[in-house]
Amino acid sequence: MNKRILVTGGLGYIGSHTVIALHENNYEVVIVDNLSNSDKSFLKKITDITGKSPDFECFDLTDLIPLKRFFDTHPIDGIIHFAAFKAVRESVKIPLKYYYNNLVSLIQLLQEFQARGLDNFIFSSSCTVYGQADKLPIKEDAPLKPLESPYGSTKQMSEQILRDYANIHIKKVVSLRYFNPIGAHLSIKIGEFPLGIPQNLVPFITQTAIGMHPKLSIFGGDYNTKDGTAIRDYIHVYDLAKAHVAALSRLLRGKNRSSFEVFNLGTGRGHSVLEVVKAFERILNKSFDYQIIDRRSGDIEAAYADTSLAEKELGWKAEISLEEALQTAWAWEKKIASDKEKF
Ligand code: NAD
Ligand code: UD1
Repeated sequence: MNKRILVTGGLGYIGSHTVIALHENNYEVVIVDNLSNSDKSFLKKITDITGKSPDFECFDLTDLIPLKRFFDTHPIDGIIHFAAFKAVRESVKIPLKYYYNNLVSLIQLLQEFQARGLDNFIFSSSCTVYGQADKLPIKEDAPLKPLESPYGSTKQMSEQILRDYANIHIKKVVSLRYFNPIGAHLSIKIGEFPLGIPQNLVPFITQTAIGMHPKLSIFGGDYNTKDGTAIRDYIHVYDLAKAHVAALSRLLRGKNRSSFEVFNLGTGRGHSVLEVVKAFERILNKSFDYQIIDRRSGDIEAAYADTSLAEKELGWKAEISLEEALQTAWAWEKKIASDKEKF
């Protein structure tokens, strides 16, 4: 029988792409999402792409009554836990909102997981836990630094909770540290929907190109990098999705080496902001309007992943290039605009 996986936050950006990858690998999926940052229409889009309909339950993971009812009625073989709030700037302004949602969801989920004797748990972490790493590329054993954002702190704290839990209860738990996810599904039927003005680079670039902002502001031109702009590791969201399938398969086959494992998910290549802009100009086939302004507070200079552990242990490697990923992001932005025109 096919394994049945609970995907929390499965209608969100990375979750919805992962549901597709799970379907493509013959897993059955049940999604729990409270739609706080997603839209129910993504369910139909997932079905359009894969020909399969995931089960869907709409409730808040911080709400214990529907959570218990869910586990009473849904047998599952593993959990991929995406559900969280992720807006870094908002988390600085309203820290309790982030600590409450991200930590209470996780703890209650683990309590039910434990009470029902379940195993196989995958957690969405972030390269943000490293802060500005001392060495590049960043390896999983790099020290975690004190962070400026409560959002980042929830990721560090969640990993600590999971480590303590997995070690004492001998469970199989994996934390995946994403570098910078970008792009849309190759079908261009699903992609990212940033709320308000995007803080992240790629959605800001595509929205500027479509005419929603006058120009891009590049935060900082005086970093100690090849062109003075900051460096990141941009990974296509479907490459990221496939890594979850690889991690899940490792757990289900009992191939994990310890009860709590951590893997970096990136491409292993760093690109500066200016390189991303130039790559996007090549896609547009024209120049793109930008200005270089002061650094953004809390930003780091450079981060890119050492991906050798994920390659060796998960048998996974990112395949989609920056250019292809940007092409999907641009096609998705144009699709959103043309859909808006129809209504
Ligand atoms: P997203 O906001 O698109 O998806 C999260 C989903 O979780 C949304 O559909 C939202 O409605 C749901 N949700 C949030 N709180 C919930 C709750 N209490 N109960 C039920 N549903 C809830 O975010 P994403 O970009 O897909 O990110 C997924 C995960 O990956 C998050 O944990 C995020 O912190 C982490 N992550 C994201 C990035 C990124 O750049 N997108 C980078 C590193 C890590
Ligand atoms: C941000 C978050 C981080 C999160 C990550 C992925 C902050 C401080 N950090 O990191 O916690 O894990 O997203 O979701 O918000 N840039 C511009 N102009 C823009 C937007 C961005 O120059 O309008 C630059 C940034 O300064 C950075 C690079 O582009 O150098 C990438 O920015 P972004 O997409 O926000 O990702 P991170 O800074 O890596």
